[in-house]
Amino acid sequence: TERTLILLKPDAVERALRGEILRRIEAKGYTIVALAQRTATAEELAAHYAEHEGKPFYAPLVEYMAASPLVAVVAEGERVIEGFRSLAGTTDPTTAAPGTIRGDLGRQWDAPVLQNLVHGSDSPESAAREIAIWFPELG
Ligand code: GTP
Ligand code: MG
Repeated sequence: TERTLILLKPDAVERALRGEILRRIEAKGYTIVALAQRTATAEELAAHYAEHEGKPFYAPLVEYMAASPLVAVVAEGERVIEGFRSLAGTTDPTTAAPGTIRGDLGRQWDAPVLQNLVHGSDSPESAAREIAIWFPELG
């Protein structure tokens, strides 16, 4: 079995979509093994988004992620890394497939960065790295 790091981003919290998103994760059969709501620190976001440093959307991305509380989640299940990315849908909410979290619930806002409700680790290596950032006690 496998674990992944999911973030319900500030737009998901602000739009009161936590329950709807967690419902989809649980309905799929994944187990939520850790969950915490807090405002991300600059250090957590710098570590989490290190791969995007230097890209044009990096500064607005970090600003959006730090602006208000998010919910960090560790979910567990068979092939959950790939499975949650599939539940989430593709990055751009405008074109994400209907049936996915981003496709059903996301839309484009007049904002400097794509607000797409959720993050999910994209590989076992990313999952281990990201779980250690958000839940060091699980390391
Ligand atoms: P995450 O699950 O959040 O990592 O999404 P992802 O893997 O689908 O996207 P990626 O890791 O490539 O980018 C991280 C975040 O940066 C995205 O979720 C968006 O919020 C934002 N982002 C990515 N690409 C773009 C882009 O081309 N333009 C803008 N404005 N924002 C972007
Ligand atoms: Mg990513």
